[in-house]
Amino acid sequence: MEYQIKDATGKLGILMPGLGAVATTFIAGVAAINKGFSQPVGSLTQMGNIRLGKRTENRYPLIKDFVPLAQLKDLVFGGWDVYTDNVYEAALNAKVLEPALLQSIRPELEALKPMQAVFDRDYVKNLDGVNVKQKNTKWELAQALIEDIRRFKEENNCERLVMVWCASTEKYIEETDVHQTITAFETGLRNNDENIAPSMIYAYAAISSHVPFANGAPNLSCDIPALIDLAKELNVPLAGKDFKTGQTLMKTIVAPGLQARALGVRGWFSSNILGNRDGLVLDDPDNFKTKEVSKLSVLEEILNADINPELYGDLYHKVRINYYPPHGDNKESWDNIDIFGWLGYQMQIKINFLCRDSILAAPIVLDLALFMDLAQRAEMGGIQEWLSFYFKSPQTAPGLKPEHDIFKQLIKLQNTLRHIMGEDLITHLGLDYYQDLVEAL
Ligand SMILES: NC(=O)c1ccc[n+]([C@@H]2O[C@H](COP(=O)([O-])OP(=O)(O)OC[C@H]3O[C@@H](n4cnc5c(N)ncnc54)[C@H](O)[C@@H]3O)[C@@H](O)[C@H]2O)c1
Repeated sequence: MEYQIKDATGKLGILMPGLGAVATTFIAGVAAINKGFSQPVGSLTQMGNIRLGKRTENRYPLIKDFVPLAQLKDLVFGGWDVYTDNVYEAALNAKVLEPALLQSIRPELEALKPMQAVFDRDYVKNLDGVNVKQKNTKWELAQALIEDIRRFKEENNCERLVMVWCASTEKYIEETDVHQTITAFETGLRNNDENIAPSMIYAYAAISSHVPFANGAPNLSCDIPALIDLAKELNVPLAGKDFKTGQTLMKTIVAPGLQARALGVRGWFSSNILGNRDGLVLDDPDNFKTKEVSKLSVLEEILNADINPELYGDLYHKVRINYYPPHGDNKESWDNIDIFGWLGYQMQIKINFLCRDSILAAPIVLDLALFMDLAQRAEMGGIQEWLSFYFKSPQTAPGLKPEHDIFKQLIKLQNTLRHIMGEDLITHLGLDYYQDLVEAL
């Protein structure tokens, strides 16, 4: 199939429900980079290379020079929050970036004020803000969001928009009848069905407005049949769930290595302490459950006890998150990994990661926004599984197991880019050009 990718001309608006630590670190970061104060470290689109052709050809362009992506200077930002703080105030409160850095880009951050949120305390008990839309039905709330999206696009003179969910993790819910079809979902919106979460209303508003939607939190959001069908029908890209940062990033780097060398894993105990607002929200057991489910699936999928019970059949995996205010956004995680090798001899690995959550998440928001926009211009609607690289709990077609191994995810992402640009896929076989090299000698 030939892809006709439309040019990335004009402005790209990035809309974010939730202007908290992650979103403000992302927005302030792009502003600082555009002023030449810093570099987009951690962003694959900006600083990552991609190999093209055979190794002997020595072609390794930057990804942003290979695929037509929106440029950082063409990005504009907007969002919703339950608090009225502008982005400068919210970034100061988040305490991720230094006040001096924020001061240097203060006017553009202060100009960004959150639109009124669609919020339901039943889904996030530990927050209580006033900047919230008041309507009689969820249907009216969805229409109000659609109007926000339309107005934002017009006022900011945007050519295209994408939406990335950067708001709090909602309480754990499972799919019910209202999530199964578009008709049931729209009836549910009109009847205020309690199983329709605010994040689903944002996703519905985005998709209905032909705006790609990526979900950075573990809540279901766009991962329900009704919204998947709507996205397919309107050919709008969707992706989720839960930005892959911190401990899970480490897990999906280390576990594939152990599995690749056929080393056994008997136990993996992961604990975290963090003190930001995300930590406060996750202090509620219902919200933690959503995160726990997302974090737990990773190891089981990579190690796959079903096909290798001798090595992974007894795996005991536990994840703990504790709210600890003194650490703020500087999350600390400990992993104790009990492994075994030749003849069953036991060994241990300890990982103590002193990370900065939002510093790891901000470049993911950037890459997702740019790649979702690329997908839209390439007319690739529906679930974008090639973006699994960025997620803890990748959204896949119903019935398909997600791929968690970060290296396989990267190969898939890069091959997708090669594919849509008409370049040869890379299999890493190499035998073909070994033969050529031998003959050339
Ligand atoms: N930082 C990371 O490394 C990381 C990794 C994976 C996932 N996440 C997820 O990303 C999300 C954002 O993380 P954060 O650290 O910025 O959290 P945060 O608490 O600093 O920001 C979230 C913001 O969302 C707002 N909000 C909550 N419900 C809303 C709604 N319905 N509409 C609009 N705004 C709403 C809150 O008021 C808050 O300002 C969380 O769900 C978190 O679990 C973060």
